[in-house]
Amino acid sequence: MDAQDRLKRDAAREALTRVRPGMRLGLGTGSTMRHFVDLLGDALDAGELSDLVGVPTSIQTERQARERGIPLAPLHEAAPLHLAVDGADEVDPRLDLVKGLGGALLREKMVAQAAERFVVVADASKIVARLGTRSPLPVEVVPFGWKTHLPTLEALGARGVLRTDDGGDPVVTDNGNYLIDAHFTGGISDAFEVQRRLERRAGVVETGLFLELADEVILASGDGIGVRRRGEES
Ligand code: A5P
Repeated sequence: MDAQDRLKRDAAREALTRVRPGMRLGLGTGSTMRHFVDLLGDALDAGELSDLVGVPTSIQTERQARERGIPLAPLHEAAPLHLAVDGADEVDPRLDLVKGLGGALLREKMVAQAAERFVVVADASKIVARLGTRSPLPVEVVPFGWKTHLPTLEALGARGVLRTDDGGDPVVTDNGNYLIDAHFTGGISDAFEVQRRLERRAGVVETGLFLELADEVILASGDGIGVRRRGEES
């Protein structure tokens, strides 16, 4: 495990302290969440937690959770969730996020919105002054006519690039859609406006902007664990 991976595990371990027996839990996707699911499995095995129900945000997380013996349910059966835990690609000072480099943004946002509390786990490298500076903004679109979104992205100040796999084929999400990664020069100046403009477009399924959704962000750095909460932003 390298140093960054250790930080991800530290953040995941801290998030586990928010979990109580009997909770219905949203399980995010990504390398940080892999640690969380692993630690959750350990806690169940050790009898430290019980009666949990998880709602996975991707096929990848579902597979891992099943392997670890975590009971699962579909979102519509488990909602409202007590808590959702997930990683992030960027965290800004208002605790707004960019997510979706792992491709699971649609289910992640649905699960976060269905939770009474949404806790983000990340290493401190994810902190940005402005969204869109460290990561492109992933936008999930239906395959039909996907190129028609590029001029809109350009008008918003972004160069849209279809996400492809190593063979050059479009990456297809768990929902059968494509992903356009929107690269903003200098970052996103008005994330709410970008969200509004994109969600108005037929064919855009969802964006990776998670605005006013995170209640708490757990950040692991070499100095230890830092916790930021909505309403207490610096
Ligand atoms: C998955 O679609 C993403 O939203 C992830 O939550 C995000 O990419 C964070 O992943 P890591 O924990 O691997 O950085």
